[in-house]
Amino acid sequence: MSILYSPGERLLTLHTRHTTYQMHADEHNFLRHLYYGARADGADFRYLQRNYDRGFSGNPPELHNDRAFSLDTMPQEYTGFNAGDFRVPALCAVHADGSYAADFRYAGHEIRPGSYDLPGLPAAFDRDPENSMTLIVTLRDTASALSVRLYYGVFEERDVITRAAEIVNDGERTIFLEKAASACVDLSFGDWELLHFHGRHCMERQPQRVPLSNAVHSVESRRGMSSHHHNPFTILCAPDTREYAGECYGFMPLWSGNHKTEVEKDYLGSVRVVTGIHDSQFRWNLGPGEHFYTPQVLFSYSASGFSALSHQYHDMIRYHICRSEYVQKRRPVLINNWEATFMNFTTERLLNIARQAAELGVELFVMDDGWFGARDDDNAGLGDWVVNERKLPGGLDPLIDGLKELGMRFGIWIEPEMINEDSDLYRARPEWVLKAPNRPPMYCRNQLVLDMSRQDVRDYLYDCFAGLLRKHDISYIKWDMNRCLADVYSNALPPERQGEMTYRYVLGVYDLIGRLTREFPHVLFEGCAGGGGRFDAGMLYYTPQIWCSDDTDAIERLDIQHGTSFGYPPFTMGAHVSVCPNQQTGRSTTFYTRGVVAMSGTFGYELDLNRLSSSEKDEVRLQIAYFKKVQSLIQNGVYYRLNELDEQERYCAWEFAAPDASEALVNLVVKHVQANAPLIHIRLRGLDPDATYTLEDTQERYSGAALMNGGYTFPMFWGDYPSVQLRFLRAD
Ligand code: DGJ
Repeated sequence: MSILYSPGERLLTLHTRHTTYQMHADEHNFLRHLYYGARADGADFRYLQRNYDRGFSGNPPELHNDRAFSLDTMPQEYTGFNAGDFRVPALCAVHADGSYAADFRYAGHEIRPGSYDLPGLPAAFDRDPENSMTLIVTLRDTASALSVRLYYGVFEERDVITRAAEIVNDGERTIFLEKAASACVDLSFGDWELLHFHGRHCMERQPQRVPLSNAVHSVESRRGMSSHHHNPFTILCAPDTREYAGECYGFMPLWSGNHKTEVEKDYLGSVRVVTGIHDSQFRWNLGPGEHFYTPQVLFSYSASGFSALSHQYHDMIRYHICRSEYVQKRRPVLINNWEATFMNFTTERLLNIARQAAELGVELFVMDDGWFGARDDDNAGLGDWVVNERKLPGGLDPLIDGLKELGMRFGIWIEPEMINEDSDLYRARPEWVLKAPNRPPMYCRNQLVLDMSRQDVRDYLYDCFAGLLRKHDISYIKWDMNRCLADVYSNALPPERQGEMTYRYVLGVYDLIGRLTREFPHVLFEGCAGGGGRFDAGMLYYTPQIWCSDDTDAIERLDIQHGTSFGYPPFTMGAHVSVCPNQQTGRSTTFYTRGVVAMSGTFGYELDLNRLSSSEKDEVRLQIAYFKKVQSLIQNGVYYRLNELDEQERYCAWEFAAPDASEALVNLVVKHVQANAPLIHIRLRGLDPDATYTLEDTQERYSGAALMNGGYTFPMFWGDYPSVQLRFLRAD
């Protein structure tokens, strides 16, 4: 049993394979958090807590004589509001009389087999209810009909606990929620640092590790999308934690909109994490009998470093988050025309690129932005999802037929959530955009945002894209989103409901993409938001891969993909070989190095292969053939980062190991070659110590134990950004 209840002590204990999580409904019905960390069977962690009278930390009403009893110092599972806990709250509720108040007490729990769903929201699933369990704990406010149902999903084998909250109004008057986090956890002891993933357009998810000061650290997005700037995934780690040693906790919301993870180190050194949707511009009307569901958050803990934590998230995403059949199925090697043509193309120009690509082994052709409406540049056309016959005479079919003759499949780019003012859709439906009354809107890339909270907008978009998919043989969709949200206001909602819009927008996106992905399960969907502006576990529920960044420079991509891999597996990262000098940086790297980097994602090309010399074409042919040989290992293997963050300046090394240890692919790119430099040495991971491995290129033989303990020393490198791939195959 992975969830245990001891009725005498009123302890609720959750076990995963290597972790334990414990809470306690105390004699006053406060739900205390007792422990989260390495597995400890049979423990009763109540002994850890000691109460003392602390100045300016007050006492609950019935305990005012016990000055040592304070919510302000009590580790909690989910906070109330305005009731004496002065740390970051999980919730803010305003009652019809204007009072800000919630004093939650334990009112019971239930334990169920299997995972749980959250209406309208992505949630971790388990195809076999034997493999997971759910605990639901109910907390009730002492003086109102407000309650919270706390969900805990235990994925024992994955070492992951999911959390979410359902907030219920059983009263007769509306309650306003001004904050509704998914989860709160208090770590009373320990010295923790925060590792978070910040960035910008073209440089997403850069790890930044900072010590916690006695303050609130907040990782957040108010951009209406999870954002290039602050990924919702955060880690708390001990100061000595490295890739393969040390404690760390991960917190990963399945959410693609405004988010906030607050980490507070309080005046006693206790650390609180509150995570979920952002409370900025949020005010939810919880009417009588209504329920509000927060997004789910994946909690995970590792006692043996970041790599193990990453593996836990990678497996969770692989088996319990991504619903697409493409998680298991081989992904086609694709070519995308964006960096080759931008919007300046015709059927013939595209087929010309495709002919050369097919000849070299590419399997799927993706037509990017510019195929619809009056779309010649980014000032017009968004919203008009009809083929531009000036560029594509006769529509899509001549192109698709031409590709079929080449043995290629066809994919297409869409940006459903956006609209240009210069479009037929805007002329017909100006009320469909997000825009505050009597104010000019903010433009970004000269486009506006459709009100995805509206059913009629979603139905229109559904008809456009379901129609497209029904009518044509389309194997792949790239779902883009190229601006942040501002002027968030819906014409379809009354003034008092405008504070619901940031949440409703994302639910609308999930609804539309959910309908399309359910109805067209054989289509491969790739998420995108100006590259990786919405790279999060919420989107991965719908799309098994996301375009990782608009920066295709191989050297920049090393950092982007390395940072992304802390939370998300390589099979989710869209990565392409593009032209050099690179269009974003002007840097030149070899085809080989570009291939090594792009192969650590979903692998494809984004250039006009006709412009290559014949020796470069030969290189591409070999590159694709090699990729197809190792593709299954890359897609299904275990990913290991082989360098620490502080070595990343000089080189980046990583490995894919087969789950059965039958082979491993080691990749190294040297970012900064130096004269007379120390040799680069790595230790391989995930091999069988008792097996012998042959290095494919040289046929040299090594024992697994030697490669994992003694490691491997690379020769001296020379030139700009050299790289190497070493494939070790089990010999016996
Ligand atoms: C942003 C994407 O990230 C690019 O790959 C490309 O699809 C453009 N949008 C098209 O507008």
